Amino acid sequence: MDELLFPLFVKLSGRDVLVVGGGAMASVRARQLAAAGARITVVAPEIREEVARLAVVARRRAFEPSDLDGAWLAVAAATPEVNRTVAAEAEARRILVNAVDDPAHATAYTAGVVRRGGATVAVSTGGKAPALAGLLREALEAVLPDDASTWVEVAERARAEWRREGVPMATRRPLLLERLGALYADGRGAAPSSPPAPGGFVSLVGAGPGDPGLLTRLGAERLAQADVVLYDALVDPAALRLAPRAHCFHVGKRAGRPSVSQRAIERLLVRAARRGQRVVRLKCGDPFVLGRGGEEVRALADAGVPFEVIPGVTSAIAAPALAGIPVTHRGLAAGFAVVSGHAEGTYGPLLDAIAPATLTVVVLMGVGARAGIAARLLARGWAPDTPAAIVLGASRGEAFTWTGPLAGLATAPLPEERAHLPGTLVVGAVAALAAARERPRAAAGDDR
Ligand SMILES: C[S@@+](CC[C@H](N)C(=O)[O-])C[C@H]1O[C@@H](n2cnc3c(N)ncnc32)[C@H](O)[C@@H]1O
Repeated sequence: MDELLFPLFVKLSGRDVLVVGGGAMASVRARQLAAAGARITVVAPEIREEVARLAVVARRRAFEPSDLDGAWLAVAAATPEVNRTVAAEAEARRILVNAVDDPAHATAYTAGVVRRGGATVAVSTGGKAPALAGLLREALEAVLPDDASTWVEVAERARAEWRREGVPMATRRPLLLERLGALYADGRGAAPSSPPAPGGFVSLVGAGPGDPGLLTRLGAERLAQADVVLYDALVDPAALRLAPRAHCFHVGKRAGRPSVSQRAIERLLVRAARRGQRVVRLKCGDPFVLGRGGEEVRALADAGVPFEVIPGVTSAIAAPALAGIPVTHRGLAAGFAVVSGHAEGTYGPLLDAIAPATLTVVVLMGVGARAGIAARLLARGWAPDTPAAIVLGASRGEAFTWTGPLAGLATAPLPEERAHLPGTLVVGAVAALAAARERPRAAAGDDR
């Protein structure tokens, strides 16, 4: 059975802490330690400038056991080999060690932390699943109010009062809930609308269909400068490597799965900017094509947060293109319509409004609804042999394209192991151009 960890908040202000390592991992911890007022000594053959700046002492050489002398805590943020040595030497000296990304060599673990005024909530998985701790932290961040500091003040005052008056413990909880409720009844508890801290800025960046090479240069530049990145489910994790300094949070929504709500995402963006952080909101494709980017921009504008929009390569054009389908082609289609296949109530009237074979129809979020979409088009008068295509995971290693007649779209066989990939439907004469391109490859057993 796993050992039960003892949760503890420690005062490190003015206390010596040793950080072994001078790279990205050390940088994250050094920032946290400096925020807690620790006196940092950093030891590593190579030390990043931002880490050295936060340290009181920077020793540019390999770790030596005597570096631990006088430390209250050690952080091992080097190679697993060095971390192991640090852990063994620290154990011998009874000094706790936090080993970044190396739980096996640690005796102290950090937590995902949410702070609101005087309230701190910490989430830990004992170093086993930091990404999960991050997700839980985000969820808490989304539900905790901005004015939790007022809650703490109210609770502190009430506690003093009840102690004076000898109010029994059992009745205090409902009384506290009543007091907190009263904050909102008379409007006093509403979150003050604080202006963004200097430097706080949000970039809404289009990540393209997947391959980070399809991200714009400006988007990549913003990622490199970011403190925080909030990214969608369809963003390729490889794109996050372009943001080495940032804390990256997954706030993606995938159909039918629990997710962070749109309003919560907007709140997170506003909060991070108000803390003075450079935030990238990384959205798949183009942020303004069926991506709810417009709502996020409106929330930022309403909150007075400065922002910019960096367009991306939309999958509506890129997914067909990467499968060899031009959405327009002289003599075949002089225009195209992009439709969401998310709900029949939305796509139905739109498809009905398009005269058969006049435009290329591109449907995003429509793979699951393709039977209904095909039926709707056939009922509208589209010919059953109209070329159609399904493009899964365009620009990714596992990309797959099916082409066939519209009448076969509903039952098109898709490989089960690629069912998790996002897919785009294309209906119209241009889809035959993919089939033409695919034929020689199909013979060679290539399914792209
Ligand atoms: C919520 S919409 C966002 C669209 C995005 N804003 C854009 O401009 O591409 C997500 C849909 O985009 C499409 N999509 C995204 N990435 C794709 C890819 N690599 N290949 C095929 N379709 C993709 C799928 O239809 C998916 O359901």
